[in-house]
Amino acid sequence: MTVADSGGALREVLKNSTGSRVLVPTMGALHQGHLELIRKARILAGPEGTVIVSIFVNPIQFDRATDLAAYPRPMESDLAACEAEGVDVVFAPEAGSMYFPDRSVTVTESLLSSGLCGATRPGHFDGVCTVVLKLFLLTGCDMAVFGEKDFQQLAIIRRMVRDLDVPVRIIGSPTIRERDGLAMSSRNVRLTPEQRADAPRIRWALLAGAKFDTVPEILETARTGIQASPLTRIDYLSLVDAETLQPVAELTRPALLAAAVFYGEVRLIDNAIVYPAGFDSL
Ligand code: PAJ
Repeated sequence: MTVADSGGALREVLKNSTGSRVLVPTMGALHQGHLELIRKARILAGPEGTVIVSIFVNPIQFDRATDLAAYPRPMESDLAACEAEGVDVVFAPEAGSMYFPDRSVTVTESLLSSGLCGATRPGHFDGVCTVVLKLFLLTGCDMAVFGEKDFQQLAIIRRMVRDLDVPVRIIGSPTIRERDGLAMSSRNVRLTPEQRADAPRIRWALLAGAKFDTVPEILETARTGIQASPLTRIDYLSLVDAETLQPVAELTRPALLAAAVFYGEVRLIDNAIVYPAGFDSL
């Protein structure tokens, strides 16, 4: 495994690479959710191909300076985890090396990013699209793997690739959870033991809501389940069309029930697909 800490170093490493290049973009603090994406990438690349994992805490996608500062950065154990998963190249650029101080070009997606995390985190998805496009260009990857835990992010990246003719195949991968149902996240380590014990309620509240057929019942059930704990503060809870991510008034097609919930300063997200009667799965 080779570690590249700049675009130039990465180009040098990749010069002699063979087969298809599969990228897994991450911000590090790798957990089983990330490792699952890496395993998928390894299978997609095959023994001849090249698996690239990027580790970069992208400053321009953070809307709160405290969140950026508190983001865990356990580089040594991340590198060991990548090595153990058979990663070929880790791209871990220095914080200052990705952006010019006077950078003035940003990628903006303007439809799918209007709601959910886009509404409460201004500029977040501009930051994500911009860094992901840069990572695609820097790595020259053929495929890239993203998790469905960040469902909106995945939908926006797919849209970016479609609308800008980016020659990268986007592969989605299901959410990996702790045994008690909590979606794995690098932010989970920042929860107090009490908050950690309470947090699986997000999952169970979404699933309880998803059992209903009408939009008010779905939202009300999920909201009640989350708010039953005094530790939670709902950032948003929305039912949106699974494709357009626009709010739905009636359940006629598969919809996404998505929530962002604060435990103190820590913001967690999760989602569940809700199917109208007669639909098996997406
Ligand atoms: P990060 O939060 O580190 O996530 C990296 C990838 O891992 C994303 O595709 C995310 O959806 C996936 N992931 C995280 N937790 C997961 C889980 N429990 N199960 C399955 N997949 C999971 O998302 C980002 O970083 C950044 O926005 C990035 C795309 C790297 C751009 O900076």
